[in-house]
Amino acid sequence: MKSILLAGGTGSRLFPVTLGVSKQLLPVYDKPMVYYPLSVLMLAGIREILLISTPEDIKQYERLLGDGSQWGITILYKIQPEPKGLAEAFLLGEEFIGQDSVCLILGDNIFYGLDFSSQLEAVVERTHMGAQATIFGYSVKDPQRYGVIEFDETGKAISISEKPETPKSDQAVVGLYFYPNEVVAIAKTIQPSARGELEISSVNQHFLKEGKLQVETLDRGFAWLDTGTHESLLEAGQFIETIEKRQGLKIGCLEEVAYEKGYITKVQLLENAQSLQGSSYGDYLIARYG
Ligand code: G1P
Repeated sequence: MKSILLAGGTGSRLFPVTLGVSKQLLPVYDKPMVYYPLSVLMLAGIREILLISTPEDIKQYERLLGDGSQWGITILYKIQPEPKGLAEAFLLGEEFIGQDSVCLILGDNIFYGLDFSSQLEAVVERTHMGAQATIFGYSVKDPQRYGVIEFDETGKAISISEKPETPKSDQAVVGLYFYPNEVVAIAKTIQPSARGELEISSVNQHFLKEGKLQVETLDRGFAWLDTGTHESLLEAGQFIETIEKRQGLKIGCLEEVAYEKGYITKVQLLENAQSLQGSSYGDYLIARYG
């Protein structure tokens, strides 16, 4: 399975902070925001990644992440010339996806929960095998800000709407999606929404209509964190800080994930760590694995 990591957008709700730097490069406590979704992909066993960003910001991502070999993965880059919506990712990534299935993850989404990686590994396997797409629902207080899933009395998903004024449930669609290869053809057929974007919700609606959409829920105890406003960005950082300090373990530490998954050796991990020595991130790796 391939994956597309979207790190575009203007981050206008974080102005003036994001006037000079891409939102997904901002710190969430002790590491750049984009590390968190990248760690999710690595934990799911996905090692071929296409990062899409704006013409202005792409170079910064290349500087930060390189070709991914330091973590035993491959990262390629593609420019999205204008913000035309999330579903454009499949058009920009068509060649990269080839005949494979694909996962889309948003660079500003933070996920943290028990057994999440095994849940994802199962979804990757299922997407590989069949023609089903998978999305995840998460209960939120402000569903009108997101894609929202409507369910019937039996709990079956019956509709998906993008930022509805009157949400039909409190289940928001999180920014992590798994699709069979067919998604590329589907993305070519959808029309821009009223706000002029190729909406990911239109793609999901298509799979739903064809009876090919699995909706899994991320339940109580799971953290899906928002980073879209000054307040939520700060809170996300504080959440990470609290857990990391209490457990003495890092969240979204790419060298650690790469080593634990067997993508790199301990020697490679320590080489990376040496270059980060003097920061709490680098010192953590040296203390734990050195
Ligand atoms: C996008 C999607 C929305 C989804 C959300 C998750 O919204 O359009 O369906 O619920 O990501 O973060 P955006 O962040 O572009 O407003």
